[in-house]
Amino acid sequence: MSNAAAASQTSDLTTPTPALWLELNRLEANIRSMHGHLHALGVTLRPHLKTCKSIDVARLLLAAGAERFTVSTLAEARYFLAHGLTDLLYAVGIAPGKLAQCSALMQAGLKLTITLDSAAAAKAVAEAANRHACHYRVLLEIDCDGERAGFAPDAAALIDAATTLEKSGCHVEGVMTHAGGSYHCHDSDCLQRAADNERDMTVAAAERLRKHGFAAPVVSIGSTPTAAFAHDLSGVTEARPGTYVFQDLVMVGLGVCGLDDIAISVLSEVIGHRAGPGELVVDAGWMALSADRGSAERGLDCGYGLVCDVAGNVLEGLLVKHVNQEHGVIAHRDGRPLEMHKYPLGCRLRILPNHACATAAQHAGYHVCDSSVDTGMYWERCTGW
Ligand SMILES: Cc1ncc(COP(=O)(O)O)c(C=O)c1O
Repeated sequence: MSNAAAASQTSDLTTPTPALWLELNRLEANIRSMHGHLHALGVTLRPHLKTCKSIDVARLLLAAGAERFTVSTLAEARYFLAHGLTDLLYAVGIAPGKLAQCSALMQAGLKLTITLDSAAAAKAVAEAANRHACHYRVLLEIDCDGERAGFAPDAAALIDAATTLEKSGCHVEGVMTHAGGSYHCHDSDCLQRAADNERDMTVAAAERLRKHGFAAPVVSIGSTPTAAFAHDLSGVTEARPGTYVFQDLVMVGLGVCGLDDIAISVLSEVIGHRAGPGELVVDAGWMALSADRGSAERGLDCGYGLVCDVAGNVLEGLLVKHVNQEHGVIAHRDGRPLEMHKYPLGCRLRILPNHACATAAQHAGYHVCDSSVDTGMYWERCTGW
């Protein structure tokens, strides 16, 4: 759609702004596409719910065949358990101070798996296992690309940790990794190499554990870019992508999806005009968009988000150039002044997120829409830790 057409859209929508807009048809298509791809590669999905933090989205994942899930906080674990999800992996290295909460969740019926990546953490879990009479299920985190955390697949500490855990009655389920380095790729060859490397490193670590007598049945990988670009996952048992349900501008920059696949956006309203530079002011600042600048590193720098009309058509060249807490400044990418009369006070615009998890986290829930029409459904999100 042309920018001129957008101008006429002083929409009569009543949804208060700023609001998190979720396009149901795009969400469903993203789920279908990733699940079909991984199913064809013979891998079970354990979707990461940190992106959506919503039981309504999780229900769509269940309907698509997912049976177990990943979470990034114990608040998510409590919330999803309360809504009937009973098999969850808490995929952040365990803090000793959280082990009592983990035991309580397991006693409440949750099949909880925790992760750790050091001999010290294994010792802390073994001690808590004795203290709470609790046989924790554990995945050992492998560092596949030097990006964040984990054992090297050939580290002596990997075997030591597994030994400490099993001696205390805990269950070493296997290994997991997150190929965070894939986010730095600039082309599909790099992404395929990252996917192969993620597989090879985790499979090697699991085989090493098996050689030392541990069953290690689970080999868990996970990131949206590597899951999307994987072509052979031999030896891997499950994948944990999360961002794919919504997609975002970082994923567009990586070549994982197109702009038309992004399922969430922030509905905002023009609240003023900066006549000098020819810019718009909208009621969506970093509190509504997040301050994430992830797209700057990849492909095209999208500022704090790309701008669409209410129907979701991208307005060529328009981006959020600057944010304050509740104000966003929209400008043309090349600095040319915008024609203000096309965007009168009250004109509604939608802003695509750099990083879906970060933008969604600024909101209490989703206004579920069918393209430009609010269905009236509101899906709450879980918050806190
Ligand atoms: C441990 C772990 N697993 C899976 C994921 C999902 O990756 P993505 O956000 O690329 O879908 C993440 C993301 O941070 C993660 O930390």
